[in-house]
Amino acid sequence: MSTPSQVSRQTLPEGEIASAKPRAGDPKPEVMQLPINTQRLTDTARTLVAADKGLLAMDESNPTCDKRFAKVGIPQTVEARRAYRELIITTPGLGESISGVILYDETIRQQKKDGTPFVKVITDAGIIPGIKVDTGAKCLAGHPGEKVTEGLDGLRDRLAEYSHMGARFAKWRAVIALGDGIPSRGCIEANAQALARYAALCQEAGMVPVVEPEVLMDGEHTLERCGEVTEEVLRSVFNQLYVQRVMLGGMILKPNMVLPGLSCPKQETVDEVADATVRCLLRAVPAAVPGIAFLSGGQSGELASARLNAMNVRFKSRLPWAVAFSFARAIQRPALEIWRGNESQVSAAQQALYHRAKCNAAARRGTYDAAMETDRPASPEHPMEIEHAPEIHNR
Ligand code: G3H
Repeated sequence: MSTPSQVSRQTLPEGEIASAKPRAGDPKPEVMQLPINTQRLTDTARTLVAADKGLLAMDESNPTCDKRFAKVGIPQTVEARRAYRELIITTPGLGESISGVILYDETIRQQKKDGTPFVKVITDAGIIPGIKVDTGAKCLAGHPGEKVTEGLDGLRDRLAEYSHMGARFAKWRAVIALGDGIPSRGCIEANAQALARYAALCQEAGMVPVVEPEVLMDGEHTLERCGEVTEEVLRSVFNQLYVQRVMLGGMILKPNMVLPGLSCPKQETVDEVADATVRCLLRAVPAAVPGIAFLSGGQSGELASARLNAMNVRFKSRLPWAVAFSFARAIQRPALEIWRGNESQVSAAQQALYHRAKCNAAARRGTYDAAMETDRPASPEHPMEIEHAPEIHNR
């Protein structure tokens, strides 16, 4: 293979593989860079948000998964986590509403009880496997109460391994907390730069980056304040993506919705949230991005579906990007409550998971209705508390 040039990837025509020829005056690359296959990246990104489908995040770190298991009395073991993830990916009909699933390092290496690798089960279901590649949010030096997400060291090699295992996209989550005097510029810029460097490495590896800057719901802040901060964060992220030469057509943005803080006395209506969210995104997200796939952030499944639905009902025909979902709790929570580690409940849990996925596909079409919720499988006797614990720690 010839030496690749350092030509800007942004200038390459869509659908072409970057030229491998060096140009006069190009600095000598210290590390061999692979040519970027823009066609593969744009195809994958578009497929992830096509046909009213969305992503299912099942990439909880072991500590987070264990914490959720503990709340409903499930043993916190490798086998319980494996069995739960097997339940999710073998849900009949999951591929009708889900285009991609985000796995965790432990999960991508696991198999079904009969020995079939999870990645094969997922691809056989017509779903694209993805992988969480950040290593968690750590305290940001000099910035009390703020975090920066780590995981860039060795990322090129980890991406190569995951790609070899069949992952076609990757996720990195940055967390931005709101409070007195925060977020700081330092926190926003450190996280934005890390997101952009991760995204560039993903594209180099032929994997679509799912760029997740999450402004947290915890706090007393108003919807307006969440909107201002979300816009500032997104502007900073897109500036850095540009600086790092990330091809916007080959990425997915995974932002928070613009919401009032959980402890804010004023809680806006579904339509007001939809308006504020779309207004913010239109100001900050370039039209070249193929899709926006929201995180749920601790909202109930019903509310997350209703808000996504309102955005599509009110604005879909006027938006440059697809408005989709990449939920974890808002899809998984009822299934986990029903399963509780009980083999006899697998089918009922799968029906609940299927139902939430279906509701979100309907929300993408703008046809979700609260009446859809009456068909869902019976709730467990002791429903799990809605998890509004601060989510600044690692997921
Ligand atoms: O990193 C977080 C997940 O990808 C989304 O989780 O929908 O529960 O906020 P969530």
